[in-house]
Amino acid sequence: MSRLTLSSAPSGSVIDPGIYGHFAEHLGRCIYEGLWVGPGSSIPNTHGLRNDVVAALKALKVPVLRWPGGCFADEYHWKDGIGPQPERKRMVNTHWGGLVEDNSFGTHEFLLLCEMIGCEPYVNGNVGSGTVQEMSEWVEYMTFDGDSPMARLRRDHGRDKPWNVRYFGVGNESWGCGGNMRPEAYADEYRKFQTFVRNYGENKVYRIACGAAVDDYRWTEVLMRDAAKYMDGLTLHHYAWEPRWNEKETATGFSRGSWFRLLASAQRMDELITRHKAIMDQHDPDKRISMIVDEWGAWHKEEKGTNPGFLYQQNSIRDALVAGMTLNIFHKHSDRVRMANLAQMVNVLQSVVLTDKEKMLLTPTYHVLRMFQGHQGARNVVVDLEKEDLPESPGLPRFSASASLDSHGTLRLSLCHLDPDKEATLSVELPSGTSMAKAKGEVLTGSTMDSHNTFAKPNEVKPTAFSAFHMDGKHLSVKMPARSVVVLTFEA
Ligand code: AHR
Repeated sequence: MSRLTLSSAPSGSVIDPGIYGHFAEHLGRCIYEGLWVGPGSSIPNTHGLRNDVVAALKALKVPVLRWPGGCFADEYHWKDGIGPQPERKRMVNTHWGGLVEDNSFGTHEFLLLCEMIGCEPYVNGNVGSGTVQEMSEWVEYMTFDGDSPMARLRRDHGRDKPWNVRYFGVGNESWGCGGNMRPEAYADEYRKFQTFVRNYGENKVYRIACGAAVDDYRWTEVLMRDAAKYMDGLTLHHYAWEPRWNEKETATGFSRGSWFRLLASAQRMDELITRHKAIMDQHDPDKRISMIVDEWGAWHKEEKGTNPGFLYQQNSIRDALVAGMTLNIFHKHSDRVRMANLAQMVNVLQSVVLTDKEKMLLTPTYHVLRMFQGHQGARNVVVDLEKEDLPESPGLPRFSASASLDSHGTLRLSLCHLDPDKEATLSVELPSGTSMAKAKGEVLTGSTMDSHNTFAKPNEVKPTAFSAFHMDGKHLSVKMPARSVVVLTFEA
C-alpha cells in the first residue's frame, strides 16, 4: 500500500489562481466556431460570442486567458483586427492550415470575451514580424485613458474607457516560430521591445519574456543573466506527446504502451520546472520573477478526416490524468510557478470544450479543472508521497498528489491513480485535527483507457460522488479506482 503524508506546518506558498489559466490561439476552430460565431449566427450568441461556451467557461472560474498565439502572435498585426468587421484586412494564417483569417475577432472581441468569462486578459505581442512602435501602440490603445492618437482611435471604434491589461507577453517561442533567435539575440530584442511597453495610469504591465522550449536550460540561463531585471515573468513550454514528434498516436484508440509513455511525458514537467527553477533561483533568489508555463497539455495526432493544421483531437480519461498530475506538479512548485495556460481552450489540442456546429461538450479535462477549482488561491500543503512506480513503467509513479488549505480552513486533497487496470489503496496521514465530519469526495474515471465524451454521448465521462475512503486507525485509507482522479475535501 502506498503512503502519503501531508505536512502539518502551514508553510506552503499560495497557489496562484493563474495556474488555472487557458490559451486561445487563432488556430483551427478554437477562436472561429469554438468561441466566436459572429453576431449573425443562428447559434445563440452575445455580440458574436457563443453563449453555451461562455457559460461553461464562466463556471470553470477561468482566471486568465492568453491570446492571440502561439505562433500566430508573431505574425499578428493588431491594427488589422479593429474597426468595422467587414472592412478588416484579410490575411493568410500561414502557421495553421493556410486559411484566410478575416480578422473579425480582434482586440475588442477578445477583451469582451474576457469580460464575459470574468477572467484577466494576457495579450501576447509580436516581436518576430512586428515593430517596437506597433507593440507600443497596442498597449497605448488598450490601456491609455487620456488624449493620445491610440486612445482616440479606440474611442473612434466605440470604446471610451481603456481596459485593464496586466499581462503582456513580448514574443512567443522566439527560439522557433517567433523568429528562430539565439537567446542572446532575443534577450536584446526583449530589452528593447519591453522598454516601450508603457504603464499608463493605474495599469501596471506585468512583462513576460519568452522562455525556454522544454529542456533548453541555456535559454533560461542567458535570459536570466541578460534580461532578468526587465521582466516579471519568464515562460516555459512543454507538451506531453509520444512516441515520436512525427508519429504521434491518436487521443483515443491508442496502444497500451502509449498510455504509459504519454503519462511519463507529462510527468517530466516536474523535472523541467525543478531544473529551470534552480537556474532562476541563482539569479533571482527572492523569487520576484514568475515562471509562467503558458503552453502545456497533451498533443496527439489530429483526428482522422480533419485538417492536420487544425490540431483537433479528442480528449479521454488519460488526458484528464495528464491535467490532474500536471496541476499537482504546479501546486508543488507554486513558489515560482504563478501562471500556466492549458493549450488550448476549445477544439485545439487538450481542450476543455469541444464544439460541432451548435453542439458543445465538456471534456474529461474540463471536469478535472472544475474538480480542482478550490485549490485556486489556497495555500499549498507540502505532501510527501512514498515512491511506488507502476510495474510496467519504471520511473512513472502509481499516484500523483497535492493538497491545499483554503482561507475557510478547508483541506483539499487531489489524487490521480495512473494504473490503467487495477484499483489500489493509498494510506494518507492527514494533519492532526483534520475533521472527517464534513468530508466529501468526487471521482472521475472511465470504463476503458480511452473513455471519452462524444456529441452523441456527452456524459460518458463525468464526475460522480466518491465515498471509498475511511479512517483506518490514524490513517485515511482511499481506495482509488484504476485510471482515476479523486478530490477529497475536509471542511473545518
Ligand atoms: O499550441 C500550438 C502551438 O504550439 C503554438 O502556436 C506554439 O507556440 C507551440 O509550438
